[in-house]
Amino acid sequence: ASLKPYNTFGISAKAKAFISVTDIAMLKEALHLEAYPEKFILGGGSNMLLKSDVNALVIHVALKGIKTVKETADNIWLEVACGENWHEFVMYCVNHGYGGVENMALIPGNVGTAPVQNIGAYGVELKDHFYSCTAIHRTTLEQKTFSLKDCCFGYRDSVFKNELKDQYVITSVTFQLDKNKHQLHTGYGAIQQVLNEKEISDPSIKDIAQAVIAIRSSKLPDPKKLGNSGSFFKNPVVPKTIFETIQQKYPEMPFYPVSEAEVKIPAGWLIEQAGFKGKRFGDAGVHKNQALVLVNYGNASGDEIWDLALRIQKEVHQQFGIEIQPEVNIIE
Ligand code: EPU
Repeated sequence: ASLKPYNTFGISAKAKAFISVTDIAMLKEALHLEAYPEKFILGGGSNMLLKSDVNALVIHVALKGIKTVKETADNIWLEVACGENWHEFVMYCVNHGYGGVENMALIPGNVGTAPVQNIGAYGVELKDHFYSCTAIHRTTLEQKTFSLKDCCFGYRDSVFKNELKDQYVITSVTFQLDKNKHQLHTGYGAIQQVLNEKEISDPSIKDIAQAVIAIRSSKLPDPKKLGNSGSFFKNPVVPKTIFETIQQKYPEMPFYPVSEAEVKIPAGWLIEQAGFKGKRFGDAGVHKNQALVLVNYGNASGDEIWDLALRIQKEVHQQFGIEIQPEVNIIE
């Protein structure tokens, strides 16, 4: 089976076998299929680069549903099945007036994979309104609930990328959202700019979501039209001393202080400085509006995209002495 429709990069890798599961019983059965000792879990396919064919049973987790688990005057807790599309869930919240995830509108992918890399955008991260998630162990089939603390969330990071890598399948995520007294996050420059242009002084949750949609659509390519996986690299966090040395040479370099001792530098800026923005090599390229996004113009293989990534990594290292790391999961 071709995985092209199942990964937003649009890579034509093949699966040894493919099954789409729509409930927990089916998932458990698939995890125990002896004919295929190797299993590969696929969610929204929005954060991975398939370098070659997948020599395993690909289990596409497609469990659906949004359930209210608890409600008070100020909050609502929603349990969302892993196969729900992330952006559709955000719009569900926006349309019901539930605050918390509106800054993360239009992020590709499914709800079940969102905790793995603690998705985030425009000043808000998944962890900010995460309450818990349930998951099934891939071999023992034990069902477990993970609290916020259990997940050890960090910048594009969680326990599911580290100690528990490839051990659990997340089946649902419970979010704690605000019905009242919701604190909007409008601090991100671009959001404020859209609100100013529209002369909105007292924005609603919907206004924020619409601003984010406008910003993202203006610089991030739509994976349905141009294969991509969002930011390909993470923004590097570097010691202040290194940052200051680079800043002397490039006083215009954007940056975000992370702590007393560390500074985050936008990888998109580094890649643009290295001369890659808008460049195309065969069907692999660097997006013209956002250098952090690698794109597939049609028939690039995973290896072609990866070769470009390595080339970028090398050039950035030569020019700035900084090693940028992929944000996307590289599947060998
Ligand atoms: N920049 C450039 N050239 C570029 C791209 C960016 O100079 O080609 C500069 C911008 O001018 C700006 C700075 O870099 O000063 C930051 O750019 P931007 O606001 O576009 O955000 P980012 O740091 O590149 C991160 C996330 C995005 C998220 C945005 C907004 C990471 C790896 N990426 O990108 O997340 O949408 O902030 O919050 O943290 C994703 O993870 O897939 C993703 C798209």
